[in-house]
Amino acid sequence: MPGGKQAAVVTISDTLSQGKREDGSGDALEALLKEAGFQIAAREVVPDERELIAALLLKLCEPGQSRLVVTTGGTGIGPRDVTPEATLDVVQRTLPGMAEAMRMESLKHTPFAMTSRQVVGVCNTSLVVNLPGSIKAVKECMGVITPVLNHVLDVVSGHTAHKE
Ligand code: MTE
Repeated sequence: MPGGKQAAVVTISDTLSQGKREDGSGDALEALLKEAGFQIAAREVVPDERELIAALLLKLCEPGQSRLVVTTGGTGIGPRDVTPEATLDVVQRTLPGMAEAMRMESLKHTPFAMTSRQVVGVCNTSLVVNLPGSIKAVKECMGVITPVLNHVLDVVSGHTAHKE
């Protein structure tokens, strides 16, 4: 099925967009998504610019593109951190429960988890997930949402047959 298990990895960082260091969190995210059975349809690196991020997310969520778009970085409270705002610009509905579940688990690992403003939402029939910008955070957060991803994507696209 076109776009069936396609996922996109979006790294949001001024430094990385200038090619100044390795995209460790993007690499970790790609590996975890592949492990979870997704094909990586797109891998992007963008600076912390709200309009650029929003435009990219919209493009990735077009019908037939990625069903799952996971971002890493720009969720914190630095002056340039705008990933949640850009995500909220493009999603029609939010899933606060998924974002809070990740934050709650993350708090077990670091008190700084409370400073991540990461959001999760539905854009068209795709799910957009924000993760903080570190390898450690990517692993900790993906561990929380991976078990529900297939079900969530099914429901978002109107396939509710195998509800538990
Ligand atoms: N969440 C998890 N699971 N693990 C982490 O190490 N780091 C925190 C937080 N959330 C962290 C985490 C830190 S140090 C910051 S600054 C914020 O995420 C925001 O990160 P970001 O601006 O790179 O998105």
